[in-house]
Parts: sequence; structure tokens; C-alpha cells
Amino acid sequence: MRTQVAIIGAGPAGLLLGQLLLKHGISNVILERQSADYVLGRIRAGVVEKGTADLLDEAGVGTRMHKEGLIHNGIEIAFSDARHRIDFHNLIGKSVIIYGQTEITRDLMAGRAAAGGETVYQAEDVSLHEIDSDRPKVRYRKNGEEHEVECDFIAGCDGFHGVSRRSIPESVLQTYERVYPFGWLGILVDKPPVSEELIYVGHERGFALCSMRTPTRSRLYIQCSLEDRVEDWPDERFYEELKQRLDAEAVARLQEGPSIEKSIAPLRSFVAEPMRYGRLFLAGDAAHIVPPTGAKGLNLAASDVHYLWQALTDFYKRNSQAGIDAYSARALRRVWKAERFSWWMTSMLHHFPDNSGFDRRLQRTELEYLISSRAAMTALAENYVGLPY
Ligand code: APR
Ligand code: PHB
Repeated sequence: MRTQVAIIGAGPAGLLLGQLLLKHGISNVILERQSADYVLGRIRAGVVEKGTADLLDEAGVGTRMHKEGLIHNGIEIAFSDARHRIDFHNLIGKSVIIYGQTEITRDLMAGRAAAGGETVYQAEDVSLHEIDSDRPKVRYRKNGEEHEVECDFIAGCDGFHGVSRRSIPESVLQTYERVYPFGWLGILVDKPPVSEELIYVGHERGFALCSMRTPTRSRLYIQCSLEDRVEDWPDERFYEELKQRLDAEAVARLQEGPSIEKSIAPLRSFVAEPMRYGRLFLAGDAAHIVPPTGAKGLNLAASDVHYLWQALTDFYKRNSQAGIDAYSARALRRVWKAERFSWWMTSMLHHFPDNSGFDRRLQRTELEYLISSRAAMTALAENYVGLPY
């Protein structure tokens, strides 16, 4: 098989890139290790920056998001039993859309099917070859048969555990990492949200977050220990702990119901540089991970795709190599700013078991300064809604 761009991974990064390329007449094939149902079963965050929404519109898959998504003009930061609103609209005149990543993935899959794009699900043992030549190849196995895709470029959109990043020689790749000493325990529940907006809670017992998917479905998180297992946290225990971290009004508004999903995610910051090697580009989680506190995972995948899609259209439509050569540096500049913001939000709001009394006083002071300073709130707001591309 021959295509212009072979895309590894059918997460949001791979699907969005594929859709934008198809729309501009650039052929591509997506190779995905899992089944479509498995991909759609993963629960992830649901905060969409304006730039991400624009890109979904450009790809022709934004209709349902605009219809069903909730526009949020701010968030609340809670500590010491009081909540403080960060008013994005008033501070910077911008907002975000609350719309689950699972729904975005579903819309992208439907768009791809309608456009006749080819996706090979359950592609086993995907391997990359001759990536430093101008005729790279991708091999995989499906139903016991070996296949080869010849292409001009490979887009490695296969997440943190994928094969693409590992195909770059170790001597070339530099990685930077911080692993946080805690995780997030999250539940999905068919009850209305605690508040109209997201509440991020900094508490001595640990972080908590009251988020939502729709006006009738909540997503709730509490910071937990890395040793904890989902089985250690029956719903009653989850709600008891959450209530200890919330202010009285939030507790009164919390509607408890049986969880329909429950999972624990570790928190990590990670960046791999460069994001291009020869004819291979990395995009999304394949190149970087952020802790979820800034809601940047999906949005960073989208900004990578923005730079990459532009680079590839410049190559095919304008015969220019410039975008391709600039891709890694451009994407990384924005990646590091989102890494900084996600690390800052995480550091400010979590309980760090090894922190000294001094560290804890500084953490409290950071929060008090934030809510007392328009400049500090503006800095949070402009990062949260998304820095410009
Ligand atoms: N071969 C083929 N596909 C693979 C391989 C492989 N060896 N390894 C992983 N994949 C697939 C995964 O099954 C997954 O469907 O690549 C896809 C990667 O998707 P995501 O992990 O969703 O990553 P990405 O598209 O970069 O999206 C980034 O989504 O995952 C969240 O936290 C993440 O919000 C962030 C955003
Ligand atoms: C979520 O709704 O799952 C969510 C929202 C905001 C975050 C992280 C997760 O920062």
C-alpha cells in the first residue's frame, strides 16, 4: 500500500491530523493497535481551548461540540473553605468549551468514515523503517498477515507508550521528566455538577476537582496515594473523602450517585526533544505528557497537529520544506509553556507528602496572592484558555 502520510495511532491527535489532511487532498492511512470501541472507552478530560475548537471546525467536525458543549467563562479555585472565581471573560474576554474528549474522538471517527479515510484497527506489531530516508515504510500485522505501507512521512500519534518515539535513535532523543508522588482517583456519575463551573480545590488532605461532562453528568476527582487501588475506594469512601475537602456550600450541592466509571491515573510531566527525526514527526502524548491539573493534554495534541498540518500542506501545496524544518522548535515552544502551567497548577493545589512547613506556607501564600491580584488571575486565565499558536 502507498500513501502520502502514514499516521500511527487513532487517538485525538492522529484522527484530527488525518481529517485535516484529507480535507486538503493529502492521502493518509491510520494504523491503530486497538479496536475503535476500545479507543472510545477511554475517559479523558473535557476542556476545549478556542484554538482546539477552531481546528475541529476547520476539520469539519465541530457541529455537535458547538451544539452540546457548555461554554465556561471561568473556573473556581477553592481553599480554606472558600471559593474564588477566576473570571476569564472579564479578565481576558475569552472562554473554554466543556465537551468530553470521548465525544471529540467519536465525532472525528464519524468524520473520517464520511470522508472515506482508511483506518486499520487492531494493527499488530507496528514498526517504522527507513525514517531517515525520503521513502519511509511502516509494517504491521493484521489477522496473521504482514502488510507494508510506503509513504512520504510518518506521523507518530501513538501516545506515551507507542512505538514511534522509541524508533528515534537514543543518541538523538533527549527526555525530561517529573513523576509526582500521588495520583488522581476519578469517578463519572449521572448526577448534575456541583457548580456551574469547574471547582479546583487545594486542601491539606489533598487536591479535589468537581468537573462535568453535561448538565446531568459529573466527573469528580480526588488526589490519592500511588499505592491505592480502585478496589480500595468504594463510592461511599470516595464521597466521604471528597466532602472533607469541599466547602460547606459545595457539600450541600453535591449529589451522590453510583459511579459509572472509576479509575486512578498517575501524574507525570514529560517532554521528548526533538519532535521530528528525518521523515518522522511526533505529535500529542507520543512526545509529551502533562499532569491533568491544567487540562492541557488534548489541547497540546491539537496545537502540535496545527503546526504539523500546516507544515505538510506547505510541503505538498507550496513545495516548501520550511514548515517541516521548523515543526519541532515551534511545537516545543508551546509545549514547554503548557508544561510550565500544568506543573504550576499541580504544585499550587496538591498535598506533597515530603513538603516542609515552609513549603506549605509558600503554597498557601501562592493561592492567597493569586486571588488578590488581577495580574496573577490574568496569568492563570490566559494560560487556561490557551496561549496563542
Ligand atoms: N501501534 C499503533 N497504535 C498505537 C500503538 C502502536 N504501537 N501504541 C499506541 N497506539 C495507539 C493507542 O491505542 C491510542 O489509541 O495510539 C493512540 C494514542 O492516543 P492517545 O493516547 O489518546 O494520544 P493522543 O492522540 O496524543 O491524545 C492526546 O488524549 O490521551 C489523551 O491525555 C491525552 O488528552 C491527551 C490527548
Ligand atoms: C475532566 O473533566 O475530566 C477534567 C477537567 C479539568 C481538568 C482535568 C480533568 O483539569
